[in-house]
Amino acid sequence: MDSVESAGGQLGAVLSAPRSGAAALAPGGPWLATSLDQARQVLTDVTKFDFPGNVSGTDDLTGSRGETRSGHTIFPPVTPGQVTRGITTFDREWAAALREHDRTRSGEPYDAMVLLRRPVARATASAAMPSIGEDVRDVVADRVLAWIDALGPIIAARRPPRRWSRIRRVEHDTRVALEDVLEDALASLPAPGQTPQQMATLLAAGTQVPIAAGAFLLAWLADHPTGAVDPVHAVWETLRLTPPTWLTARVTTGDVELGGTPIPAGGLVFVSPLLLGRLADLVPGDASGLVRFDPDRWRDGTRRPGAWLPFGAGPHACPGRNLGMAVLTHLAEWAASHEISLAEHVAIDQSRGIAPAPCRFTVTARREPVL
Ligand code: HEM
Repeated sequence: MDSVESAGGQLGAVLSAPRSGAAALAPGGPWLATSLDQARQVLTDVTKFDFPGNVSGTDDLTGSRGETRSGHTIFPPVTPGQVTRGITTFDREWAAALREHDRTRSGEPYDAMVLLRRPVARATASAAMPSIGEDVRDVVADRVLAWIDALGPIIAARRPPRRWSRIRRVEHDTRVALEDVLEDALASLPAPGQTPQQMATLLAAGTQVPIAAGAFLLAWLADHPTGAVDPVHAVWETLRLTPPTWLTARVTTGDVELGGTPIPAGGLVFVSPLLLGRLADLVPGDASGLVRFDPDRWRDGTRRPGAWLPFGAGPHACPGRNLGMAVLTHLAEWAASHEISLAEHVAIDQSRGIAPAPCRFTVTARREPVL
């Protein structure tokens, strides 16, 4: 697998930034929080750091881009009951996706970024709308995937595409198709709670990111066949080295000082869980091995997993964190009971967060779970 350290682009700029105060990535910004304290300040002090207004030109949150704070929804955390429901769906759909691949593409490698799509989309839809029927849920899940796919080229574009360009129209049409089915589905629920637009945002954020995280998890495990690994440790190590939402942004509402660095009003400030996950004081073990995939480092209970904020922090921290962790842990358990290996080199796609694409692997044998 390609290493994030040598990936270049925006990733390279963030990883090679000076580590003192808030680092200016270019004259006049953007700035980068380089310590946990600075990152917490940016994400929790919403009076000084606001969401960047419409950076991508859409209402998409899947690339860490939200609306401005005024009017921005606060999503309630996914409840334990919703997690159970989502996980039951995930397990069933993951097994079904593997079977379907074996039936239609027997002998070909699996592509994690493809294989995880429906299981994750359906799991998140089941969790978010526990009382809708499976038929409607499956339509919702497919429309979420279509919308995410349509958003991809807009987020990846260097300049915002024109309003009536083809890719904008496709994004618009797929979003409306999703909102239509959500409108009917939510109207049939006893207490809908959220608007179709809010639900669409929740579903999209809760689908695209876990697909990338799950694919990274399988890539790391296939690349490091180590035998007895605690699945939860494997998940944390994946979210440390390759957090899919590796960069999130805020805009200063007035002149502020961050880590001693003055930042003017309107300045763009980044927080990077990927950078924080490489700070020696947040990670147990030898400081020279920080970029190594080593799930066992978490056996040493001296550091708190997740301190590098892979799910964000503050009022806009991830409401689906428990579901995301549960899905990834089940996937790691599945991987622990199989011998998996990479079928080809995995590159890191930086066009929307980070994702391993393509991420092809083979299953050579089943084995009894070691733990
Ligand atoms: C491994 C899985 C996941 C990871 C790593 C992850 C990561 C994140 C991060 C870092 C943020 C904060 C972004 C920011 O501050 O700008 C976030 C926000 C969000 N996530 Fe997740 N997420 C995951 C799974 C989920 C799931 C399963 C759901 C839905 C059930 C979800 C729904 C959301 C929503 C709606 C937001 C926006 C919250 C707001 O702006 O108030 N995420 N996520």
